[in-house]
Amino acid sequence: MSLTVQTVSTTPFADQKPGTSGLRKKVKVFQQTNYLENFVQSTFNAVGESVIKGGHLVLGGDGRYFNKHAVEVILKMSAANGVKKVTVGQHGIFSTPAVSATIRKLGASSGGIILTASHNPGGPDNDFGIKYNITNGGPAPEKITSAIFAQSKEIAEYKICPDLTVDVSKIGSCSLQIEGLSSFEVEIVDSCDIYVALMKEIFNFEQIESFLKNFKLNIDCLNGVTGPYAKRIFVKELKCDAKSVVNSESLEDFGGLHPDPNLTYAKSLLDMMKLGEHDFGAAFDGDGDRNMILGKNGFFVNPNDSLAVIAANQDCIPYFKNKAAAGFARSMPTGAAVDLVAQKKGKKCFEVPTGWKFFGNLMDAGLINLCGEESFGTGSDHIREKDGIWAALAWLQILSSQSAEKQSVEKVVRGHWNEFGRNFFTRYDYEEVESSAGAKVMSNVEQQLTSLKGQSFEAMGVKYTVALADNFSYKDPVDGSLTEKQGLRIVMMDGSRIIFRLSGTGSSGATIRLYVDCFSSDAELFDQDSVVLKPLVEIALKISDLVQVTGRQEPSVIT
Ligand code: G1P
Ligand code: ZN
Repeated sequence: MSLTVQTVSTTPFADQKPGTSGLRKKVKVFQQTNYLENFVQSTFNAVGESVIKGGHLVLGGDGRYFNKHAVEVILKMSAANGVKKVTVGQHGIFSTPAVSATIRKLGASSGGIILTASHNPGGPDNDFGIKYNITNGGPAPEKITSAIFAQSKEIAEYKICPDLTVDVSKIGSCSLQIEGLSSFEVEIVDSCDIYVALMKEIFNFEQIESFLKNFKLNIDCLNGVTGPYAKRIFVKELKCDAKSVVNSESLEDFGGLHPDPNLTYAKSLLDMMKLGEHDFGAAFDGDGDRNMILGKNGFFVNPNDSLAVIAANQDCIPYFKNKAAAGFARSMPTGAAVDLVAQKKGKKCFEVPTGWKFFGNLMDAGLINLCGEESFGTGSDHIREKDGIWAALAWLQILSSQSAEKQSVEKVVRGHWNEFGRNFFTRYDYEEVESSAGAKVMSNVEQQLTSLKGQSFEAMGVKYTVALADNFSYKDPVDGSLTEKQGLRIVMMDGSRIIFRLSGTGSSGATIRLYVDCFSSDAELFDQDSVVLKPLVEIALKISDLVQVTGRQEPSVIT
């Protein structure tokens, strides 16, 4: 007996514009009748029948509230839209890096759909998200996300097989007959297998395992999707004590935690590390693509430094051997520490707009094999997403390759500063401010862009003169596409930078991000972050009039 395909009439929603990383909204918004269905159909329409019909799709999410329901709906709609096969992670769960790895490994011709709002809290009153990844395993480029938005504004109907049900809790395959179409196959796979196998190809697990016999880990999964992956890798494969992995139950609401690995939201890890009982700490976000690295006694590794250290020690990682030709890349607001490593190695370093999707073209063209963002994202061309567990393994591989007296996170970072100098960095996030106030802060700065050049500002006895002020735009060197208005930059004569951006991932109101980045090779200053950064922050607040406009005396999060 074949399953019927129903065409359901619908009307557009005005707010389905994908942001920095897919469509993110409150669960309540997604629960509106047809809201999810409209977006999924708009995605299929935008990607086009030639890719979707008869194709192979990968599907899974970070397990947050609404994940289960969304998987059911997307399976019903995939069948009705003529997809030939969907590979789903068991229970509908896949970390974001695992989806990317799976699309690539299986050569999934229709790409994949990831259900996540990343580091945003989960649960019925919190966030949900959905994003489409293309066949290279990476987030859809602007061309596709704009097409999805355009489709969402004119959608009139969607296709669904209402009676299709699949038990995604059991590993295996099933084939269903769909009315007027060929058969539809659903393959349910272990969520970790492909990803873990890939990690074992990239790293020398024997070396890490033997190193870890005398090196104590504290891996915090913040109750996000990485729990099962971390247990498989660190406990089963690398034979660490089971207590090395904490908050490892993947929960629909992340147990009330805010699954964002930074010093504010992963404070319990920081506090544990400060006790000095562990040598290495790492935390990952809800969907497993972000990471934070800490050393003994809570030594914090800024993501900019993390990227630069991995770049400088790339040769320790087997995957990168014989891949010396490719360069590095970072997003524009990311501190420029990696640029210095590239310079020394005679490699290219690309500066792209915020969001992982911009790295994909560079990787596909073989121009880069390592990249990162200040927002706790680090990764390589093994997949086309950033990858939290990969970053932790990269650090462990690097540490295990040091001479015995240098096998400490802090020593590796300080050694790096001594060699290259230190890029100081801070990011102030003002979350959920009124949208109009967010816009006003940006326009305050934007209006001054042309007049700022040459102006001098003084704060706390330090004087800076503006060398350049612009709204960052990027021309992709591979396909020539132009992406404009990616953040307001104020660059000082000595290279210090102040950057303002509005977040593209928030789900309500506006989040203003203020980034400050500067460099010093004066070792006396290496431990004086705030002395170095505070004057630039003061200048930024003055130029933007942020405190006055938003009424916020302090940011919600400081990195
Ligand atoms: C944020 C980060 C950005 C990252 C994105 C997805 O985007 O700043 O670097 O790629 O999340 O994880 P934003 O909210 O700033 O648009
Ligand atoms: Zn994430």
